[in-house]
Amino acid sequence: ACTGKFFVGGNWKCNGTKDSITKLVSDLNSAALEPDADVVVAPPFVYIDQVKNSLTDRIDISAQNSWVQKGGAFTGEISVEQLKDIGCKWVILGHSERRHIIGEDDQFIGKKAAYALSEGLGVIACIGELLQEREAGKTFEVCYRQLKAFADAVPSWDNIVIAYEPVWAIGTGKVATPLQAQEVHVAVRDWLKKNVSEEVASKTRIIYGGSVNGSNCAELAKQEDIDGFLVGGASLKGPEFATIVNSIT
Ligand code: G3P
Repeated sequence: ACTGKFFVGGNWKCNGTKDSITKLVSDLNSAALEPDADVVVAPPFVYIDQVKNSLTDRIDISAQNSWVQKGGAFTGEISVEQLKDIGCKWVILGHSERRHIIGEDDQFIGKKAAYALSEGLGVIACIGELLQEREAGKTFEVCYRQLKAFADAVPSWDNIVIAYEPVWAIGTGKVATPLQAQEVHVAVRDWLKKNVSEEVASKTRIIYGGSVNGSNCAELAKQEDIDGFLVGGASLKGPEFATIVNSIT
């Protein structure tokens, strides 16, 4: 278990329109959310300003990506400075879709994390194995390698939440069992203890992502080392996302 607050993030990915997001924000604004949980949503860049200006302050905003250094001549990128300027507190980095579809590697992700943290953004640092890696018995090895790349790059762990997202569970409806998730979360916490510090291991939130929904969140949340969730599909529905936030034990 960790000493930090339960943390639930909604990763909207590349979904939504002005209209659907207006509806989602209004559902979130009227939802009753457990006061003891940190709640964050990550809209697509182009809607962040709309969400920031209409969403309750109860919920913080995250970006889904950020540039690796100060902004400037980087066509198509969005800088950390710009994200702060429009009111983002967090950024998701190392998401499997960016690792495996876009091709971002461990070192690049580590550098992005270091830069975002140095400028004061919190980082939701994602790790997780592919199905073939799990089947080959390489789950821990892959997660440790991805963790090490973060650890080697970042100046401090104060503002990092780790999201364990097994790639085979993302968007597939095949959620990890509570025990499968717990097993990796414990391993991650042990890794932090051995390679960073006892203090960081005990205070860092390790959240689970991959087909979390309103029906499976309660069982997962009961696990000792599941400190929250990173939710994709189910975060696009306000009431269901609220149910997940309220699964805090
Ligand atoms: O970042 C959250 C995510 O990858 C999980 O997506 O749709 O399986 O909840 P989903």
